[in-house]
Amino acid sequence: MTAKTLIDFDIDRYMRASRRVDLSDVDWDDIPNHPLSAGDIMCMHYMMDIETHTVIYLRDLLASRAANDPQVTAFLSCWVYEELWHGEAFSDFLRHYGVELPAEPKLPDGSTPMPSRPNRVKAIRERLGVGHQFALLPTMFGSLVSRHFVALHMAWGAINELTTLTAYYALIRRSSNPQLHAMLRKVIQDERRHFAFYRAQARARLENAPPRVRALIRWVFENVWSPVGTGPKSEEEVDALALYLFGDSDEGREQARSIDAMVSEMPGLEGLTLLGDVVDRAVERARATPGYAGVPTAAASSATSGTPMALSRRDSDRNAKPLISVEV
Ligand SMILES: [Fe+2]
Ligand SMILES: [Fe+2]
Repeated sequence: MTAKTLIDFDIDRYMRASRRVDLSDVDWDDIPNHPLSAGDIMCMHYMMDIETHTVIYLRDLLASRAANDPQVTAFLSCWVYEELWHGEAFSDFLRHYGVELPAEPKLPDGSTPMPSRPNRVKAIRERLGVGHQFALLPTMFGSLVSRHFVALHMAWGAINELTTLTAYYALIRRSSNPQLHAMLRKVIQDERRHFAFYRAQARARLENAPPRVRALIRWVFENVWSPVGTGPKSEEEVDALALYLFGDSDEGREQARSIDAMVSEMPGLEGLTLLGDVVDRAVERARATPGYAGVPTAAASSATSGTPMALSRRDSDRNAKPLISVEV
């Protein structure tokens, strides 16, 4: 970055304001009084696992040239702390509702020690191993694009954060649990700040990058990019979430399109339809394979009819293959 580059984000203000998400608005005792659908619970497990996985994404970011920038590392220091507590928020919420898979050790007084769900988290990371797909990117392309390669990480982060907060809005739309709404609205406030940082960084760095670097970054998004959660989650789990939150209705589709519209505003990334394509491919796979991703066959076959789809996991189907499973 040159000295004249303007990053449109107040890192000083962000650092001073950074803290554990305040969930005092949530009435925790009231949570089990309002039903969560199987689809809601599926989404919350996905979100919990990926929020908790943020520290692994941090490892990958610090392996890149992003680690040389004190503004970036200051942000990342606060970011990973806030994301840790987002994961705990989902964990707490699910436990108050009565869901904890696998069952985890308790303290003698029955309370849950922090960090919660260590067996689940450990199993996910061990299954994934070290050096998974995203971690390989800096090695593959870093030497080619030099200092400008950080723009890719920042753009990728912006898409992840916007996808996350848009998914939380979509879950508010799909779920009828008012306490879940209250929790998600507080988490969304944090995600908005995260998104603002990554977007400002990405825009400035892409603006400064030579055309050949911008072209390479575009190629990565067209050919290598995958939605947040890919890796820790299987393709079917990612599809199930995409279908439940964005493939269920015109409104869901519009939410996915809003993410692509943001991507299109970034220099060099105009016209990409990343999230729309994710939903389209998920619909195609659901149509091709009966029962795939928990989608009822009738709903999948009407996926291209132009009418709102009921591409949700069947709440009443107790025999359906669990979409979120952790082997311990
Ligand atoms: Fe988060
Ligand atoms: Fe975030």
